[in-house]
This record gives sequence, C-alpha cells and structure tokens, in this order.
Amino acid sequence: MRDFADVASVADVPVGELLGVTLPDGVPVCLYNRDGELGAVGGVCTHAEFAMSAGVLHADGTIECVWHGAQFDCRTGAVRRQPATEALPVFDVRIEGGRVFVGSAARDAGARSA
Ligand code: FES
Repeated sequence: MRDFADVASVADVPVGELLGVTLPDGVPVCLYNRDGELGAVGGVCTHAEFAMSAGVLHADGTIECVWHGAQFDCRTGAVRRQPATEALPVFDVRIEGGRVFVGSAARDAGARSA
C-alpha cells in the first residue's frame, strides 16, 4: 500500500490548468486538470529538467513543456513530441474531501505505453 500525500486543494487546479507541488520526500510533481479529471505526472521535463507546471495543458490531454516544446501524454507520461525521448513518471491520485492526494511512488513504467 502506497502512502498518499495531501498536496493541494482541488480548487487550486482549475480545469485546463497545471500546478507544481512537491511530495514530502522532495519529489516534484505536476498536477493537471483535464476536463475535471485530476492527475499527476513528474514535475520535471525529461529533456532538460524544466518545470512541467510552467507548461501548457492542451485540450487533447497533451502537456507541453514551454522551454523546447516537448509534449507528453498526461495520462501515460509517454512522449508525444521530441526533443524529449523519455516518458514522464505518472503518479496515482486520490480526491478526498476536496483535497488532492498523490501517491508516493510513480507507477510502474511497464504499465505505460511509449
Ligand atoms: S526542457 Fe522541456 S523540452 Fe526541453
């Protein structure tokens, strides 16, 4: 059973927005709200370590890094456009009492499609 950390209020992540948070062990995470579906991916771009929360969430669920334009699938973390070649980690999310809880460990990379 993974630990979940209370990282934000649901109201802190409006539809179409990204929010950078940090797990208790110091791992940066980027929350997203795609049409009311809240999720979490790694907070650091796998290309050159820019903050993913500074990027843009597109309507089709693509998160774009604003530094060099790499794109990732928000649900799987898979790369949709280079220059990134490595997927973002994906974290489990639970919503309880209007709060967003993020699992302490990224999901198994083998469960993601590349
Ligand atoms: S740091 Fe994200 S695309 Fe280069």
